[in-house]
Amino acid sequence: TKRAALPRDLEGRRVVISAGGTREPMDPVRYLGNRSSGRQGYALARVAAHRGAHVTLVSANTADLVEPSGVRMVRVGTAEQMRASMLTESDGADVVVMAAAVADFRPVDRTGHKIKKTDRDPGALELTRNPDILAELVEAREAGRLSAEVIAGFAAETGDPDTTVLEHGRTKLTRKRCDLLVVNAVGDGRAFEVEDNDGWLLAADGAEYPILHGAKSHLASILWDAVSEQFARHEK
Ligand code: CTP
Ligand code: CA
Repeated sequence: TKRAALPRDLEGRRVVISAGGTREPMDPVRYLGNRSSGRQGYALARVAAHRGAHVTLVSANTADLVEPSGVRMVRVGTAEQMRASMLTESDGADVVVMAAAVADFRPVDRTGHKIKKTDRDPGALELTRNPDILAELVEAREAGRLSAEVIAGFAAETGDPDTTVLEHGRTKLTRKRCDLLVVNAVGDGRAFEVEDNDGWLLAADGAEYPILHGAKSHLASILWDAVSEQFARHEK
């Protein structure tokens, strides 16, 4: 079977993508983490590179994934490390995509030694908020410090009795003020730690595209199509 050639519509574009899930240490052996595997971010990097982009992948805790070829790798562990790398790497970028699952909170104390068990129950784990990297990138552009034409985010949502996944996504796009938001339904074995994905792609201008269930590379292609369309619109 013959494969259709990928378009080279991202030729020369500078793209920075975050992937994976941050880990927030409590001591040298324990951390607070999440279920993100990094596969969606890696698929985005691979497809963008095939379409001609210069890709930097800022990746948190994805040691078990095969590195995409032709992609510059920056490895990080915590949200604070990811923030520093994303702000540095996005300088001069045309597109920034936050596909990583960034921990919202981190332990206040991080002891240099292993926490030992005692005869008593441990005290409560005290947490503090992490920086919101996507929000900082949007603010940096609003302040003229970042020139990226497209800033995209991901939202993993579960529905609840009052609100559907799509409605949660729309609210999040408004709150985050990014240009594109991919909304995935999670829970019941969906999206995390699996090969496939589906959902919606929401654009700041109100456009909404359903993303049919398929490989993470399929979702990646849809996102890059939308990015490519925005470039074409800006050039007119
Ligand atoms: N994000 C980020 N920094 C954070 C948290 C999230 O950059 N500290 C980014 C994610 O990479 C994603 C987007 O923001 O692209 C949405 O993440 P999500 O966790 O869905 O949104 P939150 O604003 O953290 O809201 P909540 O978790 O309460 O739904
Ligand atoms: Ca969050």
